[in-house]
Amino acid sequence: RVPPPFSVPMPVPVEARPVRSTRDADYYRLAAASALAEILPGTRTPVLAYNGAFPGPTIRARAGRRVVVEHVNRLDEPTTVHLHGGAVRPEDDGGPMDLVEPGRARRYRYPNGQRAATLWYHDHAHHLESEHVYRGLAGAYLLHDECEAGLGLPSGRFDVPIVLRDARFGEDGSLVYIPEDFAGRNTILANGRPQPYFRVAARKYRFRLLNAANMRFFKAELSTGDAFQQIATDRGLLPAPLTTTSVPLSPGERADIVVDFSRYAPGARVVLRDGFSTRPSTNGILRFDVCGRVRDGSRVPERLATLPALRPATAAREFRLSMDKKTGMGFINGRAFDPRRIDFTVERGAAETWRIVNENQVIQHNFHVHLADFRVLDRDGGPPMPTEDGLKDTVMVRPGESVGVRVAFDPAFGGDYIYHCHIIDHSAMGMMGRFRITGGG
Ligand code: C2O
Ligand code: CU
Repeated sequence: RVPPPFSVPMPVPVEARPVRSTRDADYYRLAAASALAEILPGTRTPVLAYNGAFPGPTIRARAGRRVVVEHVNRLDEPTTVHLHGGAVRPEDDGGPMDLVEPGRARRYRYPNGQRAATLWYHDHAHHLESEHVYRGLAGAYLLHDECEAGLGLPSGRFDVPIVLRDARFGEDGSLVYIPEDFAGRNTILANGRPQPYFRVAARKYRFRLLNAANMRFFKAELSTGDAFQQIATDRGLLPAPLTTTSVPLSPGERADIVVDFSRYAPGARVVLRDGFSTRPSTNGILRFDVCGRVRDGSRVPERLATLPALRPATAAREFRLSMDKKTGMGFINGRAFDPRRIDFTVERGAAETWRIVNENQVIQHNFHVHLADFRVLDRDGGPPMPTEDGLKDTVMVRPGESVGVRVAFDPAFGGDYIYHCHIIDHSAMGMMGRFRITGGG
C-alpha cells in the first residue's frame, strides 16, 4: 500500500512536446482519458490523466509566443480546461459552463502576453471539477520571459515544478474520492508519488511549488529549520528575493523558491515538510538527498523584477464567503453559483479594491479570480504576509479572516469571467460567481 516515507523517487513531470510549431506559436494536444498510474509502488491506480501523465505534462511557454492547446475529451463526462493565472479571452478561459462534451475536442488559445510565472491548467467542469482534479486532471504551465532569463536564476534541470496534493487510497490502491473528505486524504503526493525522495546536487535549485490539492493548505518548510529564498508568487517574480523559513500555500497558490544545497555536506538529507500538519509521521512532503558537489553558475540577484504600480481603485466590493455544512452549499454574499447570473460589472482595464471575508469560524476558504491579478493590501487590517506580497491571483482567507486586495484588470480583455473559492470541493458546492467586463476595447 502506501510505502514508508521517502522510499520512492520523485519524478519531474514529463514536458509536453508541441505537435507543431510556427514562427510565433506552439500547438499542443492534450487528451483527457482514463489511465493507470503507478502512484504506489507496484500498484496500478486508475486515474484521469492528460496524455496518460499523472500529474499532467508540463507546458513550457515563452512570453510573446502563443500556445494553442487542442483539448480532446475521451472521458464519458464533460470537461473544460482552465489555464489558472492566464490572461486569456473568455472563450479560451475554460469556464465552468463552457463544456467540452465526451468525444469532442476544442482549442484553447493562450496569448502569453503576461510576465513570466508559474501557472497551471486544470479541469473546471461545473460540479465535476473537484473529482476531476482529484483524479488527476491538472498540470503545470511554466511561462518564461526574457527579463527572467537574464537574471541567471537556476534553470533547465535545476528548475523543477513540484505539484503538491493529498489523496486517500483504498485497500486496492485506488484513489478514493469523497467530497469534503478533508481528514481522510492523508497521503501527501509530490509530482504524483507519495512522500518521495529527490536527489539533488549540492548547488542551487529553483522549485516551483504548486498547491494542486482540493482542500489542503500546506506550509512548506525545511526540517533543518534553514531559511531559503522565495523569488516568486502566483503571477511572477517578487521585486527582490525574500529570505524565509516557511511559505504557506492554499489550494491554487504557487511560490517559487530557491534552495541552496551547497551548504549541506554530500549525504545530507533535508525534508521539505508541511508545517501545518501536526502529525510528524505524515508531515513529510518529500526528502532532498544531497549528492555530489557541482559547479553552480546560477545566482539569485538582489533585484528580480519591477512590479506594476498599484493603480487607484475606481470601485470597492465585498465578497462574503460562507459554507453550510448541513446542506453542503457554498455561498458568496449569500448566493450560490447560478450560471445565468452576472453578479457585477467591471470597467475594462479598471482597478478595484475587493474585500474578501470568511464568515465561517472553523472552515478555511480562499479566493481566486480569473483573468486579473491582484496585490494583497491587508490581512485583518494588518500587513500582508511577506510570502504573499507580490502579484497574486489566489489568496488564503482563514476562518473569520478579512483580506483586502487591489485587483487589476488587463485592458486587452473584456467579457465574462468567474471568481470562486479555490477549495474546489467548495466551488463545486456553489461558492463561485460570475462578473462581466464591459466598455472600452
Ligand atoms: Cu484554478 Cu477557476 O481556477
Ligand atoms: Cu471555501
